[in-house]
Amino acid sequence: MRDAHTVVFGGTGFLGRAIVRELVEAGRSVRIAARHPQLPEWLEAGDRVEAVACDLRNKQQVVTALEGSGAVINAVSLYVERPRSGLTFEEIHVTGAGQLARLAREAGVTRLVHVSGIGTTDTSPSAYVRARAAGERAVIDALPKAVILRPSVLFGPGDAFLAALMRLAQLPVMPLFGRGNTLLQPVHVADVARASVSLSDMRPLTRRLFELGGPEVLRYRQIVEQVLAHLECRRPLMPMPFAIWRLTAAMLALLPNPPLTRDQVILMQLDTIVSDGVGTFNDLGIVPRTLHDSLPTCLTAP
Ligand SMILES: NC(=O)c1ccc[n+]([C@@H]2O[C@H](COP(=O)([O-])OP(=O)(O)OC[C@H]3O[C@@H](n4cnc5c(N)ncnc54)[C@H](OP(=O)(O)O)[C@@H]3O)[C@@H](O)[C@H]2O)c1
Repeated sequence: MRDAHTVVFGGTGFLGRAIVRELVEAGRSVRIAARHPQLPEWLEAGDRVEAVACDLRNKQQVVTALEGSGAVINAVSLYVERPRSGLTFEEIHVTGAGQLARLAREAGVTRLVHVSGIGTTDTSPSAYVRARAAGERAVIDALPKAVILRPSVLFGPGDAFLAALMRLAQLPVMPLFGRGNTLLQPVHVADVARASVSLSDMRPLTRRLFELGGPEVLRYRQIVEQVLAHLECRRPLMPMPFAIWRLTAAMLALLPNPPLTRDQVILMQLDTIVSDGVGTFNDLGIVPRTLHDSLPTCLTAP
């Protein structure tokens, strides 16, 4: 097992890069699989990392990427659908994820960690969230021993979440999602990466569903206040009805890379915190770091 590759699908993404780093630090042999494969710039002599081109939708490429692998982590993401290119939530999060699990089982892979997200449910008004729920089922149907890992919103150096808040902090007033009362449990990307790596190797495993949130449950407004305080930036907080955010997201949807999507607005209306009765950092012996303590390494003043 230790000599077999751990394949990280989506190993060039925000979470995937952190997982690759964690695997290398654990002395594991890593294969990065993505459509635009890239080796990390921090590699040192002796690090066993390779990168292969692989589109999750392409069965043969997935089979090739899985060759010689012992463990697999699926950190592929799609936040904005591009139906004309065949990039839909269904294709990536359901069909692609399920096919990967089936091919992994056929390849004799001993452990698959499937990264999903907190709050997945079939009844969500968000097509993205519904697809994540269906995807989890497709993975478990294909490989019942798979581990489902649902992180809360991720932060870390170069993230999208704090970067968006920094951009909003340039405005004369700081707009809030609604009154800013939504509860979130932001979690550091490196802590989730550590958990992913631990779960890809851990024997025995008593739980198969993990929800990973940071040590604090915070209202969105409190997160904004922490960021503004760190930036030493005084801004009045402006509650903004969700209807206006929905309208904004609908207009931004015309852009090739919208900075805000309809699904994100829906998610900001719902509390996303760790549920009862699931595996957590505690089960893995990991003490996650707080947002407050991490801000100096995640944000630089504008
Ligand atoms: N970021 C968060 O706050 C957050 C919160 C909760 C859960 N998550 C979950 O964490 C996982 C990783 O998210 P992320 O934010 O790190 O995503 P990301 O930065 O957008 O990275 C996505 C990765 O997936 C690869 N990818 C995309 N389409 C692909 C395809 N068709 N075939 C193969 N690879 C493909 C990308 O590389 P190429 O484009 O080169 O293919 C990239 O490596 C996702 O499951 C996401 O839902 C993220």
